[in-house]
Amino acid sequence: MKMPAMGLGTFRLKGEPLLATLNTGLALGYRHIDTAQIYDNESEVGEVLATTAVPRNEIYLTTKVWTSEFAEGKLIPSLKTSLEKLGTDYLDLALIHWPSPNDEVPMAVYLEQLAEAKSLGLTREIGVSNFTVAQLKEAIEILGPGAIAHQQVEIHPLLQNRKVVEFCQAQGIAITAYMPLAYGKVLSEPLLMEIGKYHKVSAAQVSLAWLLAQGMTVIPSSTKRENQAANLAALEVSLSSEEMAQIATLERGERCADPDFAPAWD
Ligand SMILES: NC(=O)c1ccc[n+]([C@@H]2O[C@H](COP(=O)([O-])OP(=O)(O)OC[C@H]3O[C@@H](n4cnc5c(N)ncnc54)[C@H](OP(=O)(O)O)[C@@H]3O)[C@@H](O)[C@H]2O)c1
Repeated sequence: MKMPAMGLGTFRLKGEPLLATLNTGLALGYRHIDTAQIYDNESEVGEVLATTAVPRNEIYLTTKVWTSEFAEGKLIPSLKTSLEKLGTDYLDLALIHWPSPNDEVPMAVYLEQLAEAKSLGLTREIGVSNFTVAQLKEAIEILGPGAIAHQQVEIHPLLQNRKVVEFCQAQGIAITAYMPLAYGKVLSEPLLMEIGKYHKVSAAQVSLAWLLAQGMTVIPSSTKRENQAANLAALEVSLSSEEMAQIATLERGERCADPDFAPAWD
């Protein structure tokens, strides 16, 4: 299954609120769910997959392997545990959540296990998240061109990550923009509000439309039905090339996800 360009993020969501969020999203037409081992919510995602009327093969499911699971012999059992929690026998996409902090585990060790997980059928595609250009180059050297299908990275109008985006596009690595609303910061951005006013949409929808127009997948999270519906409707918003260029001027390096173990960013 091809990754739908609009997915549902699940970071910070657990229990009843997550069940309600996912069920509402599926009813609205979302067919792409983004979770991660570290979110500690794979069981709830599994509960929704088990009870929804939407067949498993119509939902694109991504999980991310946490850095504690990288050592030799650990990653595949760890992915199998994720699959058990998710109540499915395959993932559509398994990502390395972050590069190993301080290269504690050599990249070849965890990437080769990830590639093996794919050859075992545990996941249809593999990829990485939060990799710099140098790390992407190293990953391509290890697994060969074409093996890394996706990179998931923070991108929104206030942090455009151009070097990483250009490198991925040149290599044919699909990009998923996470925190596409800068966790709410784009909502009050005057230029986005102004462009939104012209199109009769919100600043959030303009931010998503701007990312989508660049061929990226977006995975906003929302607990509210109206926001989920609005985000889906952003698929229909068409920005002019002038508006695209104006939004590009909003770059100001506003990184929302920057833990102390993050690599030195490009
Ligand atoms: N790979 C990684 O390292 C990584 C890191 C961070 C995030 N992610 C993924 O990216 C997903 C999205 O990131 P995020 O949840 O942190 O941030 P986000 O999607 O940029 O922002 C979510 C916030 O925006 C609000 N919102 C959503 N749609 C809206 C709309 N149409 N109008 C107004 N407000 C709206 C939500 O509030 P309501 O609930 O009230 O709608 C929520 O507070 C995560 O859930 C996760 O799956 C990945």
